[in-house]
Amino acid sequence: MRALAILSGKGGVGKSFISANLALALRKLGKKAGLLDLDFHGPSAPEMLGMEQQDLKTRNGKIVPATGPNGVPVVSIAFMTSPDSPIIWRGPLKSKAIQQLARDVDWGETELLVVDLPPGTGDEAISTSTEFKGAETLFITTPSKISKNVVLRAVSFARKVGLRPKGIVENMSGLFESDATETLAETTGLPIIARIPFDARAEEALEQKKPFILAYPDSGTSKEIMKVAKTLV
Ligand SMILES: Nc1ncnc2c1ncn2[C@@H]1O[C@H](COP(=O)(O)OP(=O)(O)O)[C@@H](O)[C@H]1O
Ligand SMILES: [Mg+2]
Repeated sequence: MRALAILSGKGGVGKSFISANLALALRKLGKKAGLLDLDFHGPSAPEMLGMEQQDLKTRNGKIVPATGPNGVPVVSIAFMTSPDSPIIWRGPLKSKAIQQLARDVDWGETELLVVDLPPGTGDEAISTSTEFKGAETLFITTPSKISKNVVLRAVSFARKVGLRPKGIVENMSGLFESDATETLAETTGLPIIARIPFDARAEEALEQKKPFILAYPDSGTSKEIMKVAKTLV
C-alpha cells in the first residue's frame, strides 16, 4: 500500500481539507484510497467528510476502518477519543498509537493511504516517517512569506527522515498577493502540483455535512484537487 503524507509546517493551511477531499478525488478516479487522520489534538477528517462520531470495531484482532462517502475507509484519532474527555497525549503515547494505527488496521484493498498530519514536524511526522517508510509527501502551503519559510523547514525535515517529497500544493491561492510559492518551488526544486483557490462555500458544505468536492464538483477548488489526484494516479 502506498502512503501519502500531507505535511506542512503550519496549521490552518488546509491540510485536512485537502486530505479528505483528495481521498475522495482519488476514489472518483477509481483509485482505492483511504484516509488516516493522525492529528491528535485537532482531528478533523470525519467532520470534513460529514461523518458522525463513532467507535471503530475490530475483526480478527485488527481495527476495521469506518466507511465514509464514496466508500472511503477512514481511521481518525477522533474515533478513538471523545471530544468531552480528550486524552492528554504525550510523545511516547502518540508514537505508540501511530505504530498501532500503522500496523493493526485492516485496510483491505486500499492502494493509497492519505495520511493527514498535524502542523509541524513533531512526533506525528517522525513516527509517520518510520512507520510508512519512504512515504510520498505533499507540502501544503499558502501564498505567504511566513508559510513559505515554515514549509521550507518541513521539506528539509522530510528529506532528512526519508520521506519522499512529491511536490507543493498551494492552497487558498489568490487570497494573498505573493510569489512565495514560486520561491519555495525554486528553493526546494519541487514542482507546484496545483493551486487551489479559496472558496467561501467550504464552510457551507461543512454545515450541510457534505464533503466539498461532492457538494461543489464544478468549482475551481474541486478541479484543482482533482488535478492533484490525477498527478498521483
Ligand atoms: N481552499 C479552501 N477554500 C475555503 N476554505 C478552505 C480551503 N482550504 C481550507 N479551508 C478551510 O480552512 C479551515 C482550516 O483548514 P484545515 O484543513 O483544517 O487546516 P489544517 O488541517 O492545515 O490545520 C477549515 O475550516 C477549512 O474548511
Ligand atoms: Mg488539520
